[in-house]
Amino acid sequence: MSNVALKQITKRYTPEVTAVRNVSFEVKSGEFCVLVGPSGCGKSTTLRMVAGLEEITEGELSIGGRLVNDVAPRDRDIAMVFQSYALYPHMTVYENMAFGLRIRKMPSSEIDTRVQEAAKTLGISEYLQRKPKALSGGQRQRVAMGRAIVRNPQVFLFDEPLSNLDAQLRLQMRIEIARLHRRIGATTLYVTHDQVEAMTLADRIAVLKDGDLQQYDTPLDIYRKPANRFVATFIGSPSMNLLKGEMQNGHFVGEGFQVTLPSHISGDIAEIGIRPQAMQMTDDGPLIGQVDFVEALGSETFVHFMWGDTGIIAQVPPSVTVGAGDTVRFHVDPDAIHLFDSKGLAL
Ligand SMILES: Nc1ncnc2c1ncn2[C@@H]1O[C@H](COP(=O)(O)OP(=O)(O)O)[C@@H](O)[C@H]1O
Ligand SMILES: [Mg+2]
Repeated sequence: MSNVALKQITKRYTPEVTAVRNVSFEVKSGEFCVLVGPSGCGKSTTLRMVAGLEEITEGELSIGGRLVNDVAPRDRDIAMVFQSYALYPHMTVYENMAFGLRIRKMPSSEIDTRVQEAAKTLGISEYLQRKPKALSGGQRQRVAMGRAIVRNPQVFLFDEPLSNLDAQLRLQMRIEIARLHRRIGATTLYVTHDQVEAMTLADRIAVLKDGDLQQYDTPLDIYRKPANRFVATFIGSPSMNLLKGEMQNGHFVGEGFQVTLPSHISGDIAEIGIRPQAMQMTDDGPLIGQVDFVEALGSETFVHFMWGDTGIIAQVPPSVTVGAGDTVRFHVDPDAIHLFDSKGLAL
């Protein structure tokens, strides 16, 4: 297996459009790395540069220790699964999976072994003689994955492979991809805009925004120690509450609220962040809000209220019954408060 290392990679499509700026990170051999960020942040561009489908403007890309900037896609030992699946409509499932091996002149018996095995792994053995149009979206997705698996590549690349599927199927395929990775163990780069996919699949997450790498860390470190306010609000659901204010004798004071911070805190704190899950509803909590509306999802309940002009969301147990207009009180553990300076960087 191979690692994938990006060293100060930049992609400029035109003098005006820099899609990826000076991005560096390393996916260790066998790791599952998820590239996540909002639409247009440069995820696909990054993946396509790794695949060799897009020229690298500046920087160095190596796979397994070999510099591959100028190596053709077919010689990089990678396999890519696209959002669109890109199956050949006139070929059977079997031939779709075999095609890439045939053009590499692999013996038919070896091709057959690989196709049968991949089909078994993916649960599509009984569809091998069908054409793609006779398959459901989830089955087509499996064929696209099968086509990558039979290549037995050093590196798997996925670009939003689940975004054309409905919510339930997406969940199911997500679990299958995690299982598949555990079984095959190949180095993987996986692009998604879905932070839940990122959190559940990744060994390590690369968060991108406007072509800049914001943070590269394990899912739990991204969640617990976000590097800046963008990462803090992008990862986690509902989003972390952000509150502007200023320090006044050891308290952070803003419009409609005041919180106590751990005593050792100092520095240029311009904004604090509190996750909805970190707000504990208590009868005598120092933080007071008047309920605006309530979302009861069954497994949890979200209470919305305002502090000044800022909308706040708190997650409370489903047993709590409150309604619009009620006064609610919260306690927040000072250690669960995230601190940001005036540039939005975490302190
Ligand atoms: N072939 C291209 N020519 C010019 N600009 C492009 C091209 N492909 C993508 N872009 C621009 O590069 C930026 C990043 O695009 P992309 O990597 O597709 O983002 P993502 O996959 O994160 O949604 C966007 O601003 C997009 O408009
Ligand atoms: Mg994309």
